[in-house]
Amino acid sequence: MKHLLAASDLTRADIDHLLALTDAFAEVGRRRMPKVPALQGRTVTWLFYEDSTRTRLSFEQAAKRLSADTLSFSVSSSSVRKGESLRDTVQTIEAMGVDAIVVRHASSGVPAQVAQWVSASVVNAGDGWHEHPTQALLDCYTIRSQLGDLDGRHIAIVGDIAHSRVARSDVWAFTLLGAEVTLVAPRTLLPASLEGWPVRVSHDLDAVLGDVDVVYLLRMQRERMREALVPSLREYSSRWGLTRRRVELMDDKAIVMHPGPMNRGVEIAADVADLPRSVVVDQVRNGVAVRMAVLYELLGSGAVVPRPLDREDGV
Ligand code: CP
Repeated sequence: MKHLLAASDLTRADIDHLLALTDAFAEVGRRRMPKVPALQGRTVTWLFYEDSTRTRLSFEQAAKRLSADTLSFSVSSSSVRKGESLRDTVQTIEAMGVDAIVVRHASSGVPAQVAQWVSASVVNAGDGWHEHPTQALLDCYTIRSQLGDLDGRHIAIVGDIAHSRVARSDVWAFTLLGAEVTLVAPRTLLPASLEGWPVRVSHDLDAVLGDVDVVYLLRMQRERMREALVPSLREYSSRWGLTRRRVELMDDKAIVMHPGPMNRGVEIAADVADLPRSVVVDQVRNGVAVRMAVLYELLGSGAVVPRPLDREDGV
């Protein structure tokens, strides 16, 4: 694998392989010295044209745990602010000698465009409404860790599907691993066409909740909305927010997920976010191991995958 640009480029075998690698790297993360020399001599940098906490920091943590060198780049304090183009910026960074560039951008397709300009590997860390493939991988890994195989599981993805790159990547990955997906949203927050999406659709959250293994809530992405698509956030919460009353409708073993950042009190009630069945923090934790697996897959040819029996010192 040279680049990771979209979950929809992956086969089931690719995902199974990356999740198996994730298992190995999750074990590294539990060691007293959570570091292996797999990417010594390699350099990873990030090009984030959009804000991020989880994705940006977990890629940095992943690269460091693999012993890669990291080149820190901040768009807000770079020559981008003087008008330097994306292409010039990317080629400038590559000239300094990087092996992988992790890209987030508000426009769909930018990571794929960057991949055509450079010889380094490119990872899509979220592009517009298009895709967020490492989020999908960490979500699959989290569900598998919590519930076992995804085969035959029923997952409801709830909320702002129209503007969600997470929903697009998750639908592809979840269904590839055998889950059934139901999208639950008001009509205004669904894409104009769902042709080719392997999903069912409901507009009634209460009717779906008793029948699902996972409730996956999406953030209301107000920054991507150009018009009022719901009457008010209060109205949205009352019809599509996950409240304590609605949690009572769920199976005892069903879990609650959210990619973050959460709007507490909008798509998820503040107290629901902190329930034991909410695995939001596990998602973040698993994000580091998943991103280690991705960087290793792209850059680690020839390096030995760490095994649980490898020494405590990580060699
Ligand atoms: N889930 C996610 O992409 O979060 P950040 O925007 O904080 O990276």
